[in-house]
Amino acid sequence: MVKEQLIAAITDKRARVGVVGLGYVGLPLLAEFAGRGFQATGFEVDENKATQINSGESYIGDVSASVISDLVAGKRLRATTDFDHLKDCDAIIICVPTPLRKTKEPDVSYILSAAEEIKQRLHQGQLIILESTTYPGTTDEVLLPMFEETGLKLDTDFLLAFSPERVDPGNPEFQTHNIPKVVGGVTPDSTEAAAHLYSQIVKDVHAVSSARVAETAKLLENTFRAVNIGMANEMARLCYALNIDTWEVIRAAATKPFGFMPFYPGPGIGGHCIPLDPHYLSWKARQHGFDSRFIGLAEEVNSRMPEHVVQLVADGLNDESKSMKGSRVLLLGVAYKKDIDDVRESPALSIIDRLRARGALVRYHDPFVKEVHFDDAHTEGGGEPLASLPLTDEEVSNSDCVIIVTDHSGIDYSQVTRLASLIVDTRNALNGELRRDSRARIIRL
Ligand SMILES: NC(=O)c1ccc[n+]([C@@H]2O[C@H](COP(=O)([O-])OP(=O)(O)OC[C@H]3O[C@@H](n4cnc5c(N)ncnc54)[C@H](O)[C@@H]3O)[C@@H](O)[C@H]2O)c1
Repeated sequence: MVKEQLIAAITDKRARVGVVGLGYVGLPLLAEFAGRGFQATGFEVDENKATQINSGESYIGDVSASVISDLVAGKRLRATTDFDHLKDCDAIIICVPTPLRKTKEPDVSYILSAAEEIKQRLHQGQLIILESTTYPGTTDEVLLPMFEETGLKLDTDFLLAFSPERVDPGNPEFQTHNIPKVVGGVTPDSTEAAAHLYSQIVKDVHAVSSARVAETAKLLENTFRAVNIGMANEMARLCYALNIDTWEVIRAAATKPFGFMPFYPGPGIGGHCIPLDPHYLSWKARQHGFDSRFIGLAEEVNSRMPEHVVQLVADGLNDESKSMKGSRVLLLGVAYKKDIDDVRESPALSIIDRLRARGALVRYHDPFVKEVHFDDAHTEGGGEPLASLPLTDEEVSNSDCVIIVTDHSGIDYSQVTRLASLIVDTRNALNGELRRDSRARIIRL
């Protein structure tokens, strides 16, 4: 039986592991398997990434180049663009992107093209696991029929499971090895083999009864965040209208030792997960005639935050008898969260676009992001790319307003409070001490 065969190969580390898609999720996973003694091969469509890995370099912040170069030198890890080597893998894990179409519908085309490559080489004895976040039913409604078209049989010839990824880029405390892993197979044999594979690299593996449960659990996790952040953002706007300090309110509520979990407002949600994943769930729900109202409401509230931030800037400038048009506005941080270089769906892009549309002269500083591009800019000519500028005293003091969009750790906030005239702090990055010393007027969310 294929399950016993695979479990034995995994236990004595004979199993060869393939990871398809070497991004924020796939590369750390590949390195983890290689580091635990497995022969690990990464499959990429981006030749440049494969070349970098094979030269011992890393383009992902959470994976150090020294780890990659040691594993490559020890012949444990390699990357390739030749999908024929999928034939040589016993377990294949798919970690490709799952974006949304412009219509906000799921775009599973990357999953389909990865699955097509696997299908062409599928053979007896293989375990396939999907890790990309997707709507419930993708694994057994889409992948299973594709693989069965080969004539091979589930359980007798191959196994198929879903296991969501929970990696949190830039989080030094939780990385692949110490984040519990949920695993749901299309059959019990698939669950068992996949859970056994992950137990080699992760301490806690939580098996569930089906791939659908695992797919939905991931969407619940991210929808939970989107909805709660939405509520925090609504509270921030409500408190602004009532002239109450939102952050003090949250700090006070968080002293309750049960029944409350603090979430914080911000300039809007970003990244490849929280703004997108809930749409995968609501889309699937709509197919079944169900309208998921919390998801829609959270999206509405969260997507208004960039405009609210721009309004705070306009209010602040107005109080100094300045207009937005022609004012110099400096953004601190354009990444969607602190200490990483990811600008996908970052609210900073929307804020810059809106500021430019109102005639502001926008500049930015981000130690992690050298340049940003604006493919969907509203303004004519406003789509010009911007480059990060050094955070000099002159840059800060010449700005009419400084907006803290991302609270990166490495920024000297005392320099900002000492020299800026107006600061809009969307992250509560300026603690009480700094605020007391400030010559600037500070507006917080
Ligand atoms: N980034 C996160 O924090 C995070 C966290 C949890 C889950 N996820 C989910 O994991 C999945 C991957 O996300 P990511 O952030 O790693 O994406 P990413 O864009 O960083 O990486 C995906 C990689 O897949 C490659 N690729 C695309 N199509 C391919 C194909 N057909 N064959 C081989 N390689 C291909 C791309 O070149 C890219 O390098 C998504 O479904 C995402 O929602 C991401």
